[in-house]
Amino acid sequence: MQSNNFPIDDVRAQFPALNFKNHEQVFPIYFDGPGGTQMVQGCIDRILEYIETGMANLHGTFSTSIKTDDLLAEAKKAVGDLLNCPAEEIAFGQNMTSLAFQVSHSLRPLLKEGDEILVTQLDHRANVDPWIHLASETGASLRWIPVDKEKLVLDLTNLDSLINPKTKVVAVGLSSNLTGTVNDAKRIFKAAKKVNAITIADAVHAVPHFLINKQELGSDVLFCSAYKFFGPHLGIAAIKKALFEQLEIPKLQPAPNEIPYKLETGTQNHEAIAGLCGSISFIESLGSGANRRERLRSGMEAIETHELELVASLQQFLKSVPEVRLYRAAEEVPKTPTFAFRIDGIHSRQATKFFAEKFNLCIADGHFYASTMAEIFPVMETGGWIRIGFAPYNTMDEIEIFKKALRELLQRKT
Ligand SMILES: Cc1ncc(COP(=O)(O)O)c(C=O)c1O
Repeated sequence: MQSNNFPIDDVRAQFPALNFKNHEQVFPIYFDGPGGTQMVQGCIDRILEYIETGMANLHGTFSTSIKTDDLLAEAKKAVGDLLNCPAEEIAFGQNMTSLAFQVSHSLRPLLKEGDEILVTQLDHRANVDPWIHLASETGASLRWIPVDKEKLVLDLTNLDSLINPKTKVVAVGLSSNLTGTVNDAKRIFKAAKKVNAITIADAVHAVPHFLINKQELGSDVLFCSAYKFFGPHLGIAAIKKALFEQLEIPKLQPAPNEIPYKLETGTQNHEAIAGLCGSISFIESLGSGANRRERLRSGMEAIETHELELVASLQQFLKSVPEVRLYRAAEEVPKTPTFAFRIDGIHSRQATKFFAEKFNLCIADGHFYASTMAEIFPVMETGGWIRIGFAPYNTMDEIEIFKKALRELLQRKT
């Protein structure tokens, strides 16, 4: 069924969770990439290797401590190549949300009453609420880039007035974890830079699907999360050196003052950081080129090509089912392979429960913390959305099983 050259069998062989059958001996179909992907073998191997060959804390004279120092340096360099920014700008943390909250605290001295913070209606609340908190702590006011409800894109018509000399922080997601819409963040950040605002990018749903170029994007701060791209539960922040040095990050006495360590409160999750190196190597292994950045670019392109084929098949099917209401921007709008939809007359939870129990299909329902969107439409009283999001290990055959499942669900209804 696979028509592109993507090495799907080889890729699937690297994800052991794909072979873990349920109690009825049915293989799982993971269609919840946006909620978190499965872990690639290279990541698992690196985690185990770190543990099995001896763990340690940093800055010691003995071999496992030196190994751990080297590991952190290796991981930051790999993330730097993934995002195109210097390794010294990379800090690790518990998850994206906690890092964003920490950064929002540290921005307090830079804001005052009367300033403005700009967020979007389309974003995951992890890239909204830390800035709401910042506004309430400083007396700044919060403004929103609205969503065009018909087009499912950010409405940038009034960008010129939304971003003005009072604007101090602009927080935008690179792509929506609900609709998959890829935002024109570069344009927004360019406008923000004209008034010297701090630009914050939530790249959590973007990094698994296209190559980020932090320098070109114009973001001062960028967050992502390794468990969304085949890795461990680990948050990542990339903060431009000049701003990072200025940030007054709440810290305890033993914490270093230097970047990037000043954001890394306490001992880090070294085994997860080892795993992260394995997940980045996986993307790299799908590509070719003279250096790691080039291999990552070509690896991401291979992933994109594969996912586009899956998108075409699922989209055509969902559009052909009269009961399905798809929430997806027009063809010309760039999108990740993430679909939100609802089924007429069927509660979203009832549908995902049926898919899970009958077909071992892992499909999520709800608002996925894009809760502003859920309020705007409003959908929560009737169960929110059903979301399918692909990862590189998904196949056309799995989509065929989903088609069968949906047809069966609709038949039961009648
Ligand atoms: C777009 C987006 N931003 C932020 C987050 C929060 O990330 P974390 O779970 O690392 O806090 C998520 C998680 O689903 C997300 O999809």
